[in-house]
Amino acid sequence: HRRHALAAICSGAALPLLPGCAASGSAPTATAPAAAPAGRVLRAGVHTTAAAGQAQLPVWAYDGQTPGPVLRLRRGEVLDLALHNALPDPTTIHWHGVRVPNAMDGVPHLTQPPVAPGETFRYRFALPDAGTYWYHPHWGTPEQVERGLAGALVVEDDAPPPVDRDEVWLLDDWRLDGHGRIAEDFYGFHDVSHAGRLGQRLTVNGQVEPTLALQAGQRLRLRLVNAANARIFALELAGLPAWLIARDGMPAEEAVAWDGPLLLGPGMRADLIVDAAQAGRFTLRDRFGRGERVLAHVTVDGTPPGGAARPAPRPATHDPLPAPALADALAQPLVFGGGMMGMGGWPDDPLTERAARKQRRLGGSREADPVWSVNGHAHMGRHDAHPPLFRVPRGRTVRLQMANRTAWWHPIHVHGHHVKLLSRNGQALSVQPWRDTVLLSPRDTAEVAFVADNPGRWLVHCHVLEHHAGGMGAMFEVT
Ligand code: C2O
Ligand code: CU
Repeated sequence: HRRHALAAICSGAALPLLPGCAASGSAPTATAPAAAPAGRVLRAGVHTTAAAGQAQLPVWAYDGQTPGPVLRLRRGEVLDLALHNALPDPTTIHWHGVRVPNAMDGVPHLTQPPVAPGETFRYRFALPDAGTYWYHPHWGTPEQVERGLAGALVVEDDAPPPVDRDEVWLLDDWRLDGHGRIAEDFYGFHDVSHAGRLGQRLTVNGQVEPTLALQAGQRLRLRLVNAANARIFALELAGLPAWLIARDGMPAEEAVAWDGPLLLGPGMRADLIVDAAQAGRFTLRDRFGRGERVLAHVTVDGTPPGGAARPAPRPATHDPLPAPALADALAQPLVFGGGMMGMGGWPDDPLTERAARKQRRLGGSREADPVWSVNGHAHMGRHDAHPPLFRVPRGRTVRLQMANRTAWWHPIHVHGHHVKLLSRNGQALSVQPWRDTVLLSPRDTAEVAFVADNPGRWLVHCHVLEHHAGGMGAMFEVT
């Protein structure tokens, strides 16, 4: 089915932009892809709006709203959108989790030039997979995302599990200063070298403790996106029957009951089905680490229809991604080091570097200190300033052997591909799920595998945005 859909897409006008098209050589057919309204403009600009519990918060926003508009398209459709930069800084958009052609990946200097203030860049690509994704800048990311630039991208299934409501909850935290404004201490050394920038004000879709009202008997699909710079959530919604049907856009093998804390690191998504099986008020809480924090509420009104509880939902359907060929794979260690309270692994001579950078910062450039490393190297500055960590011919399987030699959590994000999680701490997993972001706890190891079928230069990095800014990243090339 997927091959069929792709053939249809490749025959359309978007041909040069799509992965898999150049090689297919299939004869054009009359079926053109359905495109989202052509020429849609998304404007990134400076606004003052009600957000994070403040009536008048100066933010950076897409189309004047934070989070940005939910972009909803169907699988196989072409997303066609011109980003207009009305910010004082350059920017780009990265389509987190979407298997885009390399030129559409939004990584400045690596896949496209940064979009300068006043300029426009057109993103145009077909959406190969249904699921919950999100979009955010990849330039000055710790600052731009924290100031409010992030939004959800929902790609609808051909045959979604039937529900009465389909909602996105984009989770975030904000660090406000004494005047109730976004604190401008981006790239602070303490944040960069510890857990990243955590904010004291938690929000769902930019609001503090919003309430979602359901009627008894309704079935809800809830799409959770963690858009926080650094905060890991351990989520619970007690009192209503709920199931996990997808992670990072990829459907679960079978619906799993959601009855314990659901760990969601920065960049990660989870799709849940929630049944409004009884009247009342129910609360989404975060129980990561110490204490608990309230995020949002669900109210259920009315009397549930009698009879037995609704059967567990079936997960979303999905065409399988290419299965990794493990025996013939390229094995690539990824050793994460550095940070405070760690076991070494700081990049060479960080203190000299730090002094040099402080100098530069006084001269106006904003960047972090190099305190994290991947295989001993800090990925700092321009993304094209580093040779690829590894090169792999298109079609070959890669096994990434990740080892977290630090005292901190790291959600490791791979661009351009989904990866199959094979094992954790040497234990093979009985269900090996697909992910685009893999959360490593302190000292954790994990092995993932993927078929490197998307040509180009791709990042793999920690999605604690301050950790990436502090060097925790690398680039690989599919040739
Ligand atoms: Cu969501 Cu490279 O990022
Ligand atoms: Cu990290």
